[in-house]
Amino acid sequence: MNQDELVDTARRMMADGKGILAADESTGTITKRLAAVSVESTEDTRRAYRELLFTAPEIENYISGVILYDETIRQSASNGETFPALLVGRGILPGIKVDKGAKDLAGHPGEKVTEGLDGLRERFAEYYELGARFTKWRAVIAIDGANALPSAACIEANAHALARYAALAQEAGIVPIVEPEVLIDGAHDQAECEATTRRTLRCLFAELEDQGVLLEGTVLKPSMVISGKQCGKQSSVLEVAEATLRTMKRHVPAAIGGIAFLSGGQTPEQASAHLNAMNRAGPLPWPLTFSYARALQNPVLALWKGDAARAQAAAAAFTERARLNHLARQGEYEAAMEKAAAA
Ligand code: 13P
Repeated sequence: MNQDELVDTARRMMADGKGILAADESTGTITKRLAAVSVESTEDTRRAYRELLFTAPEIENYISGVILYDETIRQSASNGETFPALLVGRGILPGIKVDKGAKDLAGHPGEKVTEGLDGLRERFAEYYELGARFTKWRAVIAIDGANALPSAACIEANAHALARYAALAQEAGIVPIVEPEVLIDGAHDQAECEATTRRTLRCLFAELEDQGVLLEGTVLKPSMVISGKQCGKQSSVLEVAEATLRTMKRHVPAAIGGIAFLSGGQTPEQASAHLNAMNRAGPLPWPLTFSYARALQNPVLALWKGDAARAQAAAAAFTERARLNHLARQGEYEAAMEKAAAA
């Protein structure tokens, strides 16, 4: 394992003022996102949409890395340049999602375990050749208090898989993003989300230690501590920031390369406001940034709708969302900027 290379990559992912674009939707997921704006999902519409994102003006000032999907890392822009080469040319690190999705956990109705460890060493070797310097594996943890979920079995199986994946990534010279997503779905309150996030992180960091994973060459991608979508009491921006920071401070070692949050179904405005409030509460033990998919992309898709004539406006909307999160990454975002952007 080349520790210096890993630490250097993690530092570049967490560069000042920058964050990560998650554009690694599987074919099934991107097909749903495109269908929501009435675009047929073909290899070429998926390619055209990703090209729109990756060629948006000025994003290299706000985006340090892009997480790609297997199909996307092999595709090219209209000028023939491969997507990884295009990104590297802009000073943006290419990353790759390698998990094979969350599958039903045997014996545990309502729970999932993420698969994809078989053959992963060989896949990492190929992805490194294709230009990937960081990678992502997403585990999902569902809260359902009435059925005492999550079970310890679910948390442990997912944490173990995350740690084995992370060790294989580092062996290949690739920085692992470990993503234990506590789902926002459900009527649970913020305290229940906090308790579940604590159990999950405690188990994850013990597994990472057991598998010999270098924390300085690892990035944590957690969900924020937030009430369930169907909960009657939604927390304020400050309450989310406080509970999330309290949880991270209790469970995430200062040695970690950084923390890059997922948006998990928050609106773009909420995701920016929460990240901003946390960074404003610094100094913090770790760099804290974004690794959003929907909170960066939803306004872009809504504008684009597959129409080449609207591609420029859609790309500008992506640049603006990236810029607002770049400000939030530094605690310099204001909600009023949203109105200015919309006007
Ligand atoms: P969201 O920001 O839409 O939650 O996606 C982040 C991600 O990469 C999920 O794995």
